[in-house]
Amino acid sequence: MNPDDAVNDPAPPPGAITRRQLVAGIAPPPPGAITRRQLVAGIALCGGALCGALLGVAGCAAAPRFEGRLEDDAVLIDLAELERAAPGASGVIIALPGRRETVLLLRDDQGGWSALSGVCTHQGCQVQPGAGFARCPCHGSTFDIEGQVVRGPARRALPRYALERAGGDLKIKLQ
Ligand code: FES
Repeated sequence: MNPDDAVNDPAPPPGAITRRQLVAGIAPPPPGAITRRQLVAGIALCGGALCGALLGVAGCAAAPRFEGRLEDDAVLIDLAELERAAPGASGVIIALPGRRETVLLLRDDQGGWSALSGVCTHQGCQVQPGAGFARCPCHGSTFDIEGQVVRGPARRALPRYALERAGGDLKIKLQ
């Protein structure tokens, strides 16, 4: 801008149409309107909350986590505690004491559970449970309730574990 313009072209009063807007045929936003810049900043700030609210799926919102008890090559979960901790949840991440890997429990349509490895077969991210599926938040691989790949980039299924009732516990056989 020419320095003389600044002297001859003082800042317009609030709400006034600027010469640039007039030339370009752009109307100023009405008082109180949200500008594009404000909208983008707002989305950046609350993107996580929006994502969770709009999608309501795992990969966005944190899935319930539950600690299992290791016994030989199995992990035991108190079913009553599980239902108390995650009532009606479509899936739960089971942490294994002393181990980095996790198990994913997905609820099937009969109210039972399917147990899958919680480690994505693509590059090892924690897979998140959804309603009848598991999804990896890293690159979007999606697996069905039996662990089969529905969508890549993962090519290998998630290992599936056998389950049985053991008294009040759910026993997941890791071998
Ligand atoms: S690590 Fe899971 S999709 Fe890439």
